[in-house]
Amino acid sequence: MTAIWHPFTQLKGFAPIGRVVRASGAHLHLSDGRVLLDGIASWWVNLHGHSHPALVKAISEQAAAFDQVILADFTHQPAEDLTAGLVKVLPGSLDHVFYSDDGSTSVEVALKMAWQAQGILGETKRHRFVAFEGGYHGDTLGAMSVGARDVFTAPFDNLLREATFLPWDDPEAAEAFFAEHGHEVVAMIVEPLMQGANGMQVGSPDNLRRIFEAAKKAGAFFIADEVATGFGRTGTMWAVEQAGIVPDLLCMSKAITGGTLAMGATACTSELFDLFLGDRKQDGFLHGHSYTGNPICCAAAVASLKLYETEGTLDRIGAIGEIMASYADRFAALPGVADVRRLGAMFAFDLTGGPGGYLDPAGKRVQALCLEQGLYIRPLGNVIYLMPPVCLTDDECHDMMQVLLRSTETALLTRDVSGMSPAT
Ligand SMILES: Cc1ncc(COP(=O)(O)O)c(C=O)c1O
Repeated sequence: MTAIWHPFTQLKGFAPIGRVVRASGAHLHLSDGRVLLDGIASWWVNLHGHSHPALVKAISEQAAAFDQVILADFTHQPAEDLTAGLVKVLPGSLDHVFYSDDGSTSVEVALKMAWQAQGILGETKRHRFVAFEGGYHGDTLGAMSVGARDVFTAPFDNLLREATFLPWDDPEAAEAFFAEHGHEVVAMIVEPLMQGANGMQVGSPDNLRRIFEAAKKAGAFFIADEVATGFGRTGTMWAVEQAGIVPDLLCMSKAITGGTLAMGATACTSELFDLFLGDRKQDGFLHGHSYTGNPICCAAAVASLKLYETEGTLDRIGAIGEIMASYADRFAALPGVADVRRLGAMFAFDLTGGPGGYLDPAGKRVQALCLEQGLYIRPLGNVIYLMPPVCLTDDECHDMMQVLLRSTETALLTRDVSGMSPAT
């Protein structure tokens, strides 16, 4: 039995896929000699490829210069450079950045900032957070409270604060809700354009804009959780750009350091930032983490931002997306495959015929067949998806798509996509 408690895993009878000894570009090298293409960018974090030389250099140089220092009383070049770099690429007036540890903490920070800001504005009757059905914002208690109530939250339901959940990507429902209850809402939090953990559900930019406008009209803050969608994953640097909206708060993590180190960041507008300026200490945002603004993480993130210019990262995302899209019809033609979708360099489809949802074992067989052919994927129940590092060459991308196509066909032919117990 392993002494390592692996995340999101039933450890009874568990054996890891392998032991990673090296990773380079889009590939993971295992101790038994296998080389796997990392088809999900190690949980959507890795952007430019594993152990990218520019990121390795930035990290080692910064570690040699100085490591963690307390950001409460000091500033430093890596944090200043990163903040300037982010503000330059962030939409509109998002021009202040608070650093934390990961995606969940970036969400906690946004929720707390929104709550405190409404209090400062004297809007004390506002007591609700609003989110989308099916949404996922992290695993800490505040972030879970604004996430879907499902198999992940079931053991903790009594611990969570109530939130209001609106149907995903439905502007009419949002407009009706905000017209009636908008005055009670602290903030609405959304995964713009793509609900990741909910099976890569894709939404429309127009609907997002209408939902944003309904929330803003009602005086609620709007939080864009771009932990998964940020840094180009949807084809533009930020998903909100496609809807032409500027949220009050924007959460980032995952790809911020190019996928090298854990870091969270929450950007906000000057308007919101200024509310916290006051004569009393307690009117400031009294929140922080020991590693807030870690210089090594900041240096990695600065180096990652530079790669967008030197390596044309957004163009690569576009090119990979085009290749993925060229396979859509072949997947859609398979009986047992539904709702083939693509956004940026993300490609997904559903396997039908089973119970659906995260406990549906349908994806397991496709995963096993992909692994035999050197492709690592991690289906979300019956949802198969790809979100690879964008250093993939065109040839590697074609190979990846063909492996997935073959594996899906074989799994469907042998009808092995259903009938397995969730424990397998
Ligand atoms: C949209 C979104 N928000 C927040 C999180 C939580 O991030 P982390 O796992 O880094 O805490 C995730 C993780 O998948 C996510 O997809």
